[in-house]
Amino acid sequence: MSIGVTFIDPWGDRVEASAEEGDNLLRVGQAAGLPLEGTCEGQMACSTCHVIVAADWFGKLPEASEEEEDMLDFAAGARATSRLSCQIDLTPELDGLTVSVPSESNDARKM
Ligand code: FES
Repeated sequence: MSIGVTFIDPWGDRVEASAEEGDNLLRVGQAAGLPLEGTCEGQMACSTCHVIVAADWFGKLPEASEEEEDMLDFAAGARATSRLSCQIDLTPELDGLTVSVPSESNDARKM
């Protein structure tokens, strides 16, 4: 079954993507053309894969590890529902997941 993910890009436009179980959220976003750098390729050493998860989805994700929390402290525009997209693998339960890709210059944008 395919898993639908909605990205909201830094300019507020919605980008719908379709993924398979086990796909990594960072890769899905990159494939959909979102500006997610993912410089360290999932090694939790950069935070350029930072996304802000829609509030009603945040609690459905597996909890962030301590390393991820530490790295999020360095993420530009981090919020209470921020996650590193490289640490999220998609499961059928996440069908419909919505995340925003923040822009450093526009931290105050609303979901
Ligand atoms: Fe570097 Fe996610 S890609 S922390």
